[in-house]
This record gives sequence, C-alpha cells and structure tokens, in this order.
Amino acid sequence: MIPSKLSLLLVLLSIQITTTVLAQSPDPVYLTHVCPNATSFPPNSTFGSNLNLLLSNLSAAAANGEGFHYAESTAGNDSSSATYGLYLCRGDITPKECQNCIDFATTDTLNHCPNQKTAIVWYDRCLVRYSNRSAFSVQPDTFMLYNTRNVSEPDRFNELLGRVMNEIVAEAANGEAKKFATKGVELSAFQSLYTLAQCTDDLSEENCDRCLRTCLSLLPSCCGGKQGGRVLLPSCNIRYEVYPFYEGAAVATAAPPYGELASSPSPSPVETTWTDDQGML
Ligand SMILES: *[C@@H]1O[C@H](CO)[C@@H](O)[C@H](O)[C@H]1NC(C)=O
Ligand SMILES: *[C@@H]1O[C@H](CO)[C@@H](O)[C@H](O)[C@H]1NC(C)=O
Ligand SMILES: *[C@@H]1O[C@H](CO)[C@@H](O)[C@H](O)[C@H]1NC(C)=O
Ligand SMILES: *[C@@H]1O[C@H](CO)[C@@H](O)[C@H](O)[C@H]1NC(C)=O
Ligand SMILES: *[C@@H]1O[C@H](CO)[C@@H](O)[C@H](O)[C@H]1NC(C)=O
Ligand SMILES: *[C@@H]1O[C@H](CO)[C@@H](O)[C@H](O)[C@H]1NC(C)=O
Repeated sequence: MIPSKLSLLLVLLSIQITTTVLAQSPDPVYLTHVCPNATSFPPNSTFGSNLNLLLSNLSAAAANGEGFHYAESTAGNDSSSATYGLYLCRGDITPKECQNCIDFATTDTLNHCPNQKTAIVWYDRCLVRYSNRSAFSVQPDTFMLYNTRNVSEPDRFNELLGRVMNEIVAEAANGEAKKFATKGVELSAFQSLYTLAQCTDDLSEENCDRCLRTCLSLLPSCCGGKQGGRVLLPSCNIRYEVYPFYEGAAVATAAPPYGELASSPSPSPVETTWTDDQGML
C-alpha cells in the first residue's frame, strides 16, 4: 500500500510541477532600445494619452493573431499629438508567442522609454516602434550583436554566408504574406549554418531589399569571422548562427561544394549569451 500511495503522490506531484512549468511562459528577452532624449514629451500631455491608446491598440491586434500591425492614434485637435506605431514578430513564432511578446513589450517599452515621442525597443522575438511622425523610413539607428566565438575558416565561412544571405534577402523581399525567410545549410559534417532575414510588412519589395542589403553591408564590421551575428535596423534585420535558433530549422541536404571545416564542439543554443557579448555601433 505504501509504495503505491507514494507513487500516486509522486505522479500528482509531477503533474503539478509540469502544469506550473507550462503555465509560466518566460518573459521575452530584451535586446536594446533607441529613444532620443530630444524627443521628450511632457507628463499628462495629449501625446502621452495617445501613446497609451496606441500601445493598447497594438496589444489588441496581437491578440487577434497578427504578426505585424501598424496603428495610429490621433485623438485631439492637435496634429502634433498624433502617434504612429507598429510591432513586428519574428516570422517563425506562433501567434500565441507573438501575443506574449507584444503584451510584454507594449508595457515594458515605457520602462526603457518613459517619455519619448520616438522609440524603438527590440526583443529577441519582436519589436515595438512608435513616433510622432507617420514616415518611419529614414531613421539611421543600427544595432549589431555578435557571438564571440570565432569560425575556424573565415574565408570559406564568409563565402557561404554571403551566398545564403543573398538568397534569403531576395526571398524575404519577395514575400507576399510575410517579408521573412530562413535557410539552413550544411557547413560540414559537424556544423550547419542557419540564417534569417525579415522586414516589417509595410516595406515595398524594393525597400525591403534595400534595407536588408544595408544590414548585409554592415555584417563584416560587426561580425566578420564570428560564429553568429545580428544586424538590427528599425525596418529590417538579419541574423545567422551555427545552431538552429528559429522554429522548424532544417538543413538543406544538398551540401554546398566546400571541404570540411574543422570540427568544433557545438555551442549551446542559449540565446541569452548575447547579452554578454553585445557590441553596439
Ligand atoms: C536622457 O535623460 C535622462 C533623464 O533625464 C538622463 O539620465 C540621461 O543621461 C539622458 N541621456 C542622454 C544621452 O542625454
Ligand atoms: C516630432 O517631435 C519632434 C521632437 O519633439 C519635433 O521636433 C517634430 O517637429 C515633431 N514632428 C511632428 C510631425 O510633429
Ligand atoms: C499628472 O497627473 C497626475 C495624476 O492624474 C497628477 O498627480 C500630476 O500632478 C499631473 N502632473 C502634471 C504635471 O500635470
Ligand atoms: C485601434 O484603434 C482604432 C481607432 O482608435 C480602432 O478603430 C481599431 O479598432 C483599433 N484596433 C484594435 C485592434 O483595437
Ligand atoms: C477642436 O477644435 C474645435 C474648433 O477649433 C473646438 O470646437 C473643439 O472643442 C476642439 N476639440 C478638442 C477635443 O479640443
Ligand atoms: C577571435 O579572433 C580575434 C581576432 O583574431 C581574437 O582577438 C579573439 O581573441 C578570438 N576570440 C576567441 C574567443 O578565440
């Protein structure tokens, strides 16, 4: 009797633990923000209340399962109080994960940018952005991150990286439903390369292509010879790693015509290592 009671207790206990773990979805990983002090607005202003409306509007759109949403909030007579904003979720995550990310982000944004009219806050899987101007296009803010691990044969690695990146940039820019593309290729019997490119859905094909090519041109300066890199622009971003970091990562079976890279222990896919290794331009 005692052993079976004990095992029932253990089963109940483990159900409890499982439920608790499943119920807690971890907070999205914050990466960085840009919100110039020069764009501060006064407390209790119409702009501030419009911004709150805008953020709750974005949050509501995420609850409807949208991966991208643009909104504006123009209450009041004063056109200088109008706010324009958007969010973007990484193209591979589920609507539920997107909703979690945006729910968190639309609140957390004000911790980083409490009273600025212009802000971009990047998280690992989503971004939130707003401004007092409807035209977002010309903002030069760039953020780059790299993995501190070096690749063993940089020339060969870079050649393959450049080739795959060119492919997914074209694919993302051509995207109809989402401007998003990923691709995994074999580097060697021991290592693969995983790549991602995404634009906000408001960009035209031409502008998405231009934006992503700007990211590509910046890659060597941050991430040349590194096993992982990200370039984040407000309207587009790219990332590569030697471990699968997006959902449904598969590796193309047709191996590219390269010799073997030296084998190296596979790095642990812990995305938070980024926060230790970040380099900012
Ligand atoms: C922006 O303003 C905050 C609060 O007034 C201040 O602590 C911070 O140093 C300012 N940052 C810059 C870059 O001026
Ligand atoms: C947006 O805010 C900035 C900084 O306060 C201001 O200089 C600019 O004129 C504003 N633009 C519009 C369209 O209101
Ligand atoms: C802003 O509103 C709060 C609460 O409504 C009030 O306590 C505060 O005095 C107001 N601040 C200004 C500058 O009007
Ligand atoms: C966002 O706000 C606009 C106008 O305030 C409203 O018409 C629209 O339904 C809102 N969208 C969501 C998803 O709440
Ligand atoms: C907007 O402006 C009109 C006329 O200029 C005025 O009658 C009205 O009260 C204003 N509304 C608000 C919300 O300020
Ligand atoms: C990577 O290479 C750079 C430049 O060759 C070197 O300074 C750095 O120490 C290397 N890092 C590691 C982790 O080996």
